[in-house]
Amino acid sequence: KRHLLSIDDLGVDDITTLFTTAAEMHDVQHREVKKLPALRGRTVINLFFEDSTRTRSSFELAGKWLSADTINITGKGSSTSKGESLRDTVMTIASMGVDALVMRHSASGAALQVSQWVDAAVINAGDGTHEHPTQALLDAYTLTRRLGTLEDKHVVIAGDLTHSRVFRSNVKCLAKLGARVTVVAPPTLMPSGVGTWSASQGFATSYDLDEVLPTADAVMMLRVQKERMSGGFFPSPREYTVGYGLTRDRLRVLGPDVPICHPGPMNRGLEIAADAADAAQSAILEQVSAGVAIRMSVLYHLLAGEAS
Ligand code: CP
Repeated sequence: KRHLLSIDDLGVDDITTLFTTAAEMHDVQHREVKKLPALRGRTVINLFFEDSTRTRSSFELAGKWLSADTINITGKGSSTSKGESLRDTVMTIASMGVDALVMRHSASGAALQVSQWVDAAVINAGDGTHEHPTQALLDAYTLTRRLGTLEDKHVVIAGDLTHSRVFRSNVKCLAKLGARVTVVAPPTLMPSGVGTWSASQGFATSYDLDEVLPTADAVMMLRVQKERMSGGFFPSPREYTVGYGLTRDRLRVLGPDVPICHPGPMNRGLEIAADAADAAQSAILEQVSAGVAIRMSVLYHLLAGEAS
């Protein structure tokens, strides 16, 4: 059985196939009756040990609209709060006869670890600072719909890169689709060792948002993840916005057709101004909508035709 743990699991042809199916699922999303029978009899468990609004609800809708039985389990409401280990929790759920586990966990590598324990397909819905592959797929899908193709398009990804699994999945996915990517962060939020990594993955790095914005074909702002900063947040929120926020002034530098993306949740007024988040060129709610279509596509390709 196949899993989706990382963008590394996908070739360009796989991504193209997922996008083609997602476009069909997008049409289903906008029908009056959204149900397809494709996954009738399949069971999908959403196992979320970290909070989520978009990813969890879109996976649940995706499963339901494909007629799978879906169940949500969260860390707070489960027996992990009584001290049950991840392995015991996962093996207990797997013993019930599930077909897919959609998993979010604060530990990088948790989804890979779980995939080695269970027979069910494992989908990584975010593991620590490692990867969030379905987010990258929905981001690239949204940008492809806006820009036609990502080949040679300049995508600027700016924000708290140190703590961002979205950035790590996105640079891989965008590179596979031919985009030129520049990542921007203050020195304190630029991951250590990024120089070596950027050379191997083919993306550029910068500490100067104002230098790169004028050539951007698309902009992706990332959330400052204060909850992962035990040592405090430096620069200060005010300095961050002045240096790295998509402010009203920076919005004017962008062409009117340059999509503005943010995976959410947003810190309005910190990394993105309301004028930018709510601008006509904002793609943020399109990303959310695409999230359901992409997750329907992923569930379909992993589970349809598999014996349960
Ligand atoms: N983008 C994203 O993963 O959002 P949630 O944390 O709300 O799922």
